[in-house]
Amino acid sequence: MKYSELGLVNTSDMFRDAIARHYAVPAFNFYNMETLGAILDAARIARSPVILAVSESALKYMGGDMLTGMMLGANVNPEDKIALHLDHGASIDACARAIELGFSSVMIDASKLPFDENVKITKSVVKLAHKHNVSVEAELGTLAGIEDENTYGADSSYTNPDDVERFVAATGIDSLAIAIGTSHGAYKRKRDDEELRFDILADVATRLPEFPLVLHGASNIPQKLITTINEFGGKITGARGIDVAQLCRATKINVCKINVDSDLRLGFVAAVRRAMGENPSKFNPRDFLGAARTTMTQICLDEIRDIMGSANRLD
Ligand code: G3H
Ligand code: 13P
Ligand code: ZN
Repeated sequence: MKYSELGLVNTSDMFRDAIARHYAVPAFNFYNMETLGAILDAARIARSPVILAVSESALKYMGGDMLTGMMLGANVNPEDKIALHLDHGASIDACARAIELGFSSVMIDASKLPFDENVKITKSVVKLAHKHNVSVEAELGTLAGIEDENTYGADSSYTNPDDVERFVAATGIDSLAIAIGTSHGAYKRKRDDEELRFDILADVATRLPEFPLVLHGASNIPQKLITTINEFGGKITGARGIDVAQLCRATKINVCKINVDSDLRLGFVAAVRRAMGENPSKFNPRDFLGAARTTMTQICLDEIRDIMGSANRLD
């Protein structure tokens, strides 16, 4: 299916506007009806463009046909400025399949490969995607990831600014994810005073003027969600996210897409645990899922307004 048949847009216009007006478009991950509905509710309330991000594992979980069916049912229009984006596509095949399904944007993440191999695979995806007017994001440098839900990931390496112009010119990508100290999951910082590497960001932005940059692993991990989870039987210790003020600062230096998944996962779980804890005799799943959806909408709204600066940008 073509993404235009789903009422979606690619990311080119939204990034052009975001760069010009110094804000970021939120990329929120979803994996079922409630998470999709929560993000779309927030986008409509705030009049914000939004990128609906789907990881390969989330796509497998939903199934391609179910995803397309949900997108049809969501009734979005091009004026809503909504993109459907493959998050961390690991292969050319994964990107090709996403494009066939109706994605308007894909990320090819070959960042763990040597530079030349990253260029080669990224270039192939760009060639294919651009035929369909689909946007392409790629990554230079690697982020620490989650090893499991409760430990710090290892093996991050910052983006080398010396590489970025060559990479963008050789591949033809539309946006570049960079590693400046963010990381996936809920355990991002060991201390409160850890700073992102704004020196690297500034250097990259100088070398690539007006070029859309992307921050992955940018959840701020609201502590009130951790408190609720633990109050109602959870056990999460040491979770710490990226400082909100630093995220806002990044939006002024060409970061025009900020990826958030963990905050919504925590919101979902906090709401379900609270609703179950406070209503021990209820057993209608919709009571708990409804609470999760409302909480996730509020988190999206808070971040659209307080971090991204993307509210009221649909003109
Ligand atoms: O960046 C990674 C996202 O948080 C997706 O994670 O593969 O568990 O859906 P997932
Ligand atoms: P978080 O784990 O910080 O939410 O990052 C999500 C992400 O980068 C998805 O690509
Ligand atoms: Zn990511």
